[in-house]
Amino acid sequence: MKVDGKPYRTIWLSQDGTTVQVIDQTLLPHDFVVRDLKNVVNATNAISNMVVRGAPLIGAAAAYGMALAMAEDPSDAMLARAYTLLLESRPTAVNLRWALDDLRTLLAPLPPAKRRDAAYKRAAEICDEDVEICRRIGANGLELIRKLKPRGDRINALTHCNAGWLATVDWGTALSPIYQAHNAGIPIHVWVDETRPRNQGASLTAWELGKHGVPHTVIADNAGGHLMQHGRVDFCVVGSDRTTRRGDVCNKIGTYLKALAAHDNGVPFYVGLPYPTIDWTIEDGHRDIPIEERSARELSHLTGRTESGELATVAVLPEGSPAANPAFDVTPARLVSGLITERGVCAASEAGLLALYPEQSRAA
Ligand code: MRU
Repeated sequence: MKVDGKPYRTIWLSQDGTTVQVIDQTLLPHDFVVRDLKNVVNATNAISNMVVRGAPLIGAAAAYGMALAMAEDPSDAMLARAYTLLLESRPTAVNLRWALDDLRTLLAPLPPAKRRDAAYKRAAEICDEDVEICRRIGANGLELIRKLKPRGDRINALTHCNAGWLATVDWGTALSPIYQAHNAGIPIHVWVDETRPRNQGASLTAWELGKHGVPHTVIADNAGGHLMQHGRVDFCVVGSDRTTRRGDVCNKIGTYLKALAAHDNGVPFYVGLPYPTIDWTIEDGHRDIPIEERSARELSHLTGRTESGELATVAVLPEGSPAANPAFDVTPARLVSGLITERGVCAASEAGLLALYPEQSRAA
């Protein structure tokens, strides 16, 4: 995607061939800053502090984190240490484990002298593959959008959190069909949930849609149900951090409430996801997905630009009030109208997923 006319991915290798560069997402939409990741600790901190975030980008950053570790020290001990360090950086998005397993399986049998180059090559492949996967998710989602019968003169989508190009290497998952519809000349407008407490919708989704010229309106998280009751949402589309074998979808906190409202109002509720987001080892998302608990400070404080132009952080809770911050929730498969993957659209069920990924059948 382009930022002010210049094409960007969210992660890339710098000219020196070792340093990894990323867009610092904690500063958007106020400042566009590129950060250098020079070692595995930098990569781990970038993931845990959400300088990079979004399940596919977390996976890509973890792959480059392993490469940085191998550039520092290609020993077996470092391989094991880097794997553990990165795995513990965030618990919910399964793309992290997927990327780390992929890199470890590749690197462990190699002699240490060959590990650095192999790791960088594989990390670059994971990034390129993510771009192509997300492009295909968009193409498959576009076919769904073409079939919608909008109630007004434009299609109104609703999305939660940020599952756009900032959450992936490029294109996005949930937003890829929207970009492709917009590029195809289909009049589409997006209701963007602000997505408290970290405001990924208001800060990131609104920013990237705006940069691409996609009409959008930011709404309070609580407004979606009301808009659906009044026929002002034609479909919902969100991303996923982990989707189980039977199609339960874990995504940013508040997704479940949107799915309930969509179900109650007969609004289709789609989820866009790439194959590394599917956790074939579990079925029951409610029981088996670890839900990240983040700092209460993300709820108690807000950062923004003051009218005089500086960035400022303010407290919004009464001093002493405790706050809780579960970062994800699970939407049961029964509330999901369809899963949009790189291989096509399927029902949110084991049979639906296996029809697209037959190699994951237990008999295979
Ligand atoms: O906490 P975040 O910002 O990493 O959460 C991101 C989401 O919940 C996204 O919807 C999900 O990772 C899918 S991204 C294509």
